Amino acid sequence: MFIIENDLIGLSPYTHADDADMFACWQNIDTQKGYNGIFNQTFNEFKEFNIEQFTFWVTVTDKKTSKKVGVLRLGLDEICPDLAIWIYPRYRNRGYGTQSFALALKYIFEHFPYSEISAGCFEDNISSIKMLTKIGFVRYPDGDVAEKSCFTGETIRQLEFRITSELARDIPLLLADNQ
Ligand SMILES: CC(C)(COP(=O)(O)OP(=O)(O)OC[C@H]1O[C@@H](n2cnc3c(N)ncnc32)[C@H](O)[C@@H]1OP(=O)(O)O)[C@@H](O)C(=O)NCCC(=O)NCCS
Repeated sequence: MFIIENDLIGLSPYTHADDADMFACWQNIDTQKGYNGIFNQTFNEFKEFNIEQFTFWVTVTDKKTSKKVGVLRLGLDEICPDLAIWIYPRYRNRGYGTQSFALALKYIFEHFPYSEISAGCFEDNISSIKMLTKIGFVRYPDGDVAEKSCFTGETIRQLEFRITSELARDIPLLLADNQ
């Protein structure tokens, strides 16, 4: 069932059975702020996407409770794709983000030819910045992008972070000790 797991969580391929959870996640205001986008699609509009176009798109399951707690997806850039994450609102700030990002990176670097993965987050997204820094991502200021916040109208910076396959080898293995 899991493509990779540790003692606490497992990652399995995203399917349309996950659409309702993901739709609910997008309705959360902090999710929308995390991606600077106002979400106003209907469920029928939302679920019209092709999962197969993405090479890595997974759901995170808590192994103890069997609850699905979030989703990660790798972007389509051929050189340095970005890894995006959505932990479902009720499961945030319990370590799932850090655990699942680390596990996903381990899988990606072992199964795909990328030497570097990127991640972007807005400067006010404290939990995301902490998560990326803790895992070992380093800032890549040349990739920063200034955007207008669709919530406040102010200019906000999306900060780019990157991690190389070498750096990812140093991710504490208690986060991912079996598969
Ligand atoms: C960003 C996100 C993925 C983090 O996942 P998470 O499971 O909540 O994060 P973790 O529990 O692993 O916590 C990571 C760090 O942030 C801290 N943190 C978590 N929530 C926090 C909050 N609301 N305020 C301040 N710090 C917070 C944690 O204490 C931890 O820091 P520590 O290791 O120093 O203790 C999650 O909040 C989320 O899905 N947000 C909405 C979508 C989004 O913003 N995605 C990222 C876009 S780049």
